[in-house]
Amino acid sequence: MRSKCLLLLLLINLACIGVLAKNHSSRPRLRRNDFPEDFIFGSATSAYQCEGAAHEDGRGPSIWDTFSEKFPEKIKDGSNGSIADDSYNLYNEDVDLLHQIGFDAYRFSISWSRILPRGDLKGGINQAGIDYYNNLINLLLSKGVKPFVTLFHWDLPEALEHAYGGFLGSEIVNDFRDYAELCFQKFGDRVKHWTTLNEPFTVVHEGYTIGEKAPGRCSSFTNPKCFGGDGATEPYIVGHNFLLAHGAAVKIYREKYQAIQKGKIAAARATAFTFDYFLEPIVYGRYPADMVNYVKGGRLPTFTPEESSILKGSYDFVGVNYYSSFYVKDVPCATENITMNTDSCVSIVGERNGVPIGPAAGSDWLLIYPEGIRDLLLHAKLKFNDPALYVTENGVDEASIGEIFLNDDLRIDYYAHHLKMVSDAILMGVNVKGYFAWSLMDNFEWSEGYTVRFGLVFVDFEDGRKRYLKKSAKWFMRLLKGEYNGMRQKVAVI
Ligand SMILES: *[C@@H]1O[C@H](CO)[C@@H](O)[C@H](O)[C@H]1NC(C)=O
Ligand SMILES: *[C@@H]1O[C@H](CO)[C@@H](O)[C@H](O)[C@H]1NC(C)=O
Ligand SMILES: *[C@@H]1O[C@H](CO)[C@@H](O)[C@H](O)[C@H]1NC(C)=O
Repeated sequence: MRSKCLLLLLLINLACIGVLAKNHSSRPRLRRNDFPEDFIFGSATSAYQCEGAAHEDGRGPSIWDTFSEKFPEKIKDGSNGSIADDSYNLYNEDVDLLHQIGFDAYRFSISWSRILPRGDLKGGINQAGIDYYNNLINLLLSKGVKPFVTLFHWDLPEALEHAYGGFLGSEIVNDFRDYAELCFQKFGDRVKHWTTLNEPFTVVHEGYTIGEKAPGRCSSFTNPKCFGGDGATEPYIVGHNFLLAHGAAVKIYREKYQAIQKGKIAAARATAFTFDYFLEPIVYGRYPADMVNYVKGGRLPTFTPEESSILKGSYDFVGVNYYSSFYVKDVPCATENITMNTDSCVSIVGERNGVPIGPAAGSDWLLIYPEGIRDLLLHAKLKFNDPALYVTENGVDEASIGEIFLNDDLRIDYYAHHLKMVSDAILMGVNVKGYFAWSLMDNFEWSEGYTVRFGLVFVDFEDGRKRYLKKSAKWFMRLLKGEYNGMRQKVAVI
């Protein structure tokens, strides 16, 4: 009787998986020890999205302050990040939350203009900014949480945008290198994982091709409301300078700091269809052949042999941010109104024969497709020489509904399915060393403002930025404590 029942229940559970494809009961069963023992579980944020204190303690403005404060019409709800989660003042609470949930690591970014208000060394160092990051890092370490620090998460100092067009100017390469070196000098004794650039492709695409994110540039035929721009040339110049800036920062780290500080540095990361654009240069020292062939008229910059050799191998690990997947269709190349988006001669769509690739989340671009993360990790392994990988962002949002909402079952499903795919990738031999959930807390979601929420922790923007654990935070807590998660363990109950 006993063993029959056991068998029956097992069958029922299996049947559940098949039938209730989108249901909670179909959540993959997941345990902490499905992952290697030294696998890092962390959670992530970025400076402009959560720090606030934008005009406090000597911080200089960044292009995101300008973009959101001067042009509120560019942000869905007209908001800005001047207060955001107020993490600059409430970081103690945030570190407590990380610790309470059980995360091993915190990925955050440094606000360049908080430590260099004018962007460069000759504009002076802001000691209050250095103190803030020292305090944050020390507190994290005191709780056993490892800092993973991103140097550039989109908030370029406004002074550099003003001086030479920011990443459009070749001067940015040395200024980024100096800023990175300052970070290595001040924090590198305790920070062992550095990432240079967060999603460079997103900036190239949304900042310079369609103009929906700062600095809001594009061709006028794409959008007459952009602040100038040329979607056929500028994206490639910015992408090129991103790569050179990355190379310069890694070079100085390797020459002067790595032997002493023993840290690791990660490369640029990008989303699925744009992965090779930034990976191929840093792995093999060249642009992907498809880009070389498809970008006509000398618009794709070239690397000198020296630049190419600086870039080649300029990483110890690669960070991958994954949210969603799309279908791609071959289309005839455009002959008019050329931009970076038309150069690839593909159309990128969310559905095939009227069927979306997956259900939509709070943001309509975010179609949920867990298999994509496994496929992307495999692609990175196979095409790019089996790098050490971290999933540096993965997460899902819900629309803000104007009241406190903590029962985020959709997010638990999302994490359970995606983590299962990550563990499958590891079983297939991909060297994935850690995973960061985006985001620790609800925050300023760029041009979406506060209309969507990506957090494991709910932030009440109407009431003193009070923090509340969502159900998903508690789910992570159980997972990280080593308890069973996902499907209820009926067999054990018998
Ligand atoms: C779960 O499955 C049941 C039965 O098929 C269905 O009625 C319910 O709406 C599903 N719930 C979700 C959240 O998909
Ligand atoms: C920025 O947002 C804050 C609230 O978060 C608001 O008080 C302020 O007016 C906004 N600034 C501008 C220039 O819109
Ligand atoms: C190119 O852009 C112009 C200006 O917006 C528009 O009138 C024209 O139809 C576009 N051409 C094509 C082929 O899309």
